[in-house]
Amino acid sequence: MLKFTATEKSVADRKSGCLLVAAARQGGKAALSNHAKQADHAANGLLSEIIRRGDFKAEAGTAVIIHLQKSQHQRIILAGFGDETPDSARRGVDAAFALLRKSKADNALSALSAEKNQNALLHEVPAAARQLQKFQHGPWGKNPPCPVRMEFALPGKSHRAAFARAAAAAEGGCLARHLAEQPGNICDPAFLAKTANWLGKNTELKTWTLEEKRIRELKMGGLLAVARGSAKPPKFILMSHNGGGKTRPVALVGKGVTFDSGGISLKPGAAMDEMKFDMSGAAAVFGAMLFCARAKLPLNVVGVVPACENMPDGAALKPGDVITAMNGKTIEVLNTDAEGRLILADALFYAAKNFNPAAIIDAATLTGACVVALGREASGLMSPDDALADELLQSGEATGDPAWRLPLWPAHQRLLKSEYADMANIGGREAGTLTAGRFLQNFIGETKSWAHLDIAGSAWTKTKRATGRPVDLLAEFLHRRAAKRAK
Ligand code: BES
Ligand code: MN
Ligand code: ZN
Repeated sequence: MLKFTATEKSVADRKSGCLLVAAARQGGKAALSNHAKQADHAANGLLSEIIRRGDFKAEAGTAVIIHLQKSQHQRIILAGFGDETPDSARRGVDAAFALLRKSKADNALSALSAEKNQNALLHEVPAAARQLQKFQHGPWGKNPPCPVRMEFALPGKSHRAAFARAAAAAEGGCLARHLAEQPGNICDPAFLAKTANWLGKNTELKTWTLEEKRIRELKMGGLLAVARGSAKPPKFILMSHNGGGKTRPVALVGKGVTFDSGGISLKPGAAMDEMKFDMSGAAAVFGAMLFCARAKLPLNVVGVVPACENMPDGAALKPGDVITAMNGKTIEVLNTDAEGRLILADALFYAAKNFNPAAIIDAATLTGACVVALGREASGLMSPDDALADELLQSGEATGDPAWRLPLWPAHQRLLKSEYADMANIGGREAGTLTAGRFLQNFIGETKSWAHLDIAGSAWTKTKRATGRPVDLLAEFLHRRAAKRAK
């Protein structure tokens, strides 16, 4: 559990290891927020003095820490919100918590969102968790993910529900990052199954795992094909949150390749270590499920995680092999490194067939091409359903976890044409993200409402840290679905 709480009391007469406040640029000058003015008073005018000296200009993404003596706050962090667009304010929030992480404060009070709308809180609380989380080797649940006791000052009672939601999403983000950052020798398919087990024991979620024998009986040819080259058996992990009575669930499907060597179509050595992150879609589904439980969301949600390793042993899948997916469609595997779509084919079909879902959303580190196209700011979003696409885009926008829509066109199916099977698993050099998304669409069964999130660029950073994305986007989307249902 996170040690995050909220308060509506004034920050003026509180004590803390560190107080976080903001300044913005107004008329070409740095201007303290109301809470920052109170902090300035508590600090005998030090904050305005730093601004007067020109050392702090409140530019977006800057922050300073000052240490106080004989004050109720041991430290104050002043964050720059720039011209106070949602984006520039978010950069200030990130910088403030990055500074807090470097300090020795074990408790802090944030007033960064105290004069702002609910969306600010939906970004700030998960961002605090992301910056303050300490990496821990091994299973989830041994220690609290963040050592710092955080209190967030709310503008009023009307923000309580948003705070609770933000804190639930923050914890989901911690779980997602915890899993994604584990090395491949620790986080393998069995480790993910054990994590689901933990969730089943320690939360309201129901969780269960289909073992290799059952996967074989169900004829999940895609998952079996990819897992064949690994010494570790695949697992098909299921989680369900029952908060919506008899209504149709939302199904979340996450790519759980715990290490992607490329298989026989072996990847080059450079940066191959980053392929431990190839289960980030699965990690986000775990995080979103934990969010549902913690937020007690009045909605039915199922999580579906096909988990395996993509390795090149003597039994491995080979280029040219033809396999049959669970829905009976045949696939010519022209490149064993396009493995994510093979396991997702079965997982999407399983979800469509077994849960009668109102919508299916998958998250997958599917294509390097998506990183080239969109960079790391946005996840790629593909969907045949405009309404669903808009809901997801807006949820990402609101929380600072944005997605950008890409087309899903029949033309890309033609690029997948095969001489030997219903389709090939790659479409050549052109439009790699679009052919991958289009490939998945062949396996959604009767489901009309489906969306695919390619998180290859957004799931981890250049410095090899997991971001926890797109947990915030998914959490907000699920919340909005639940709120709509309640009306
Ligand atoms: N997991 C990778 C995609 C990836 C690569 C994500 C780099 C993030 C960074 C995926 O399984 C893969 O290897 N895709 C191939 C597809 C290609 C063979 C059509 C790729 O993107 O090169
Ligand atoms: Mn691959
Ligand atoms: Zn992969």
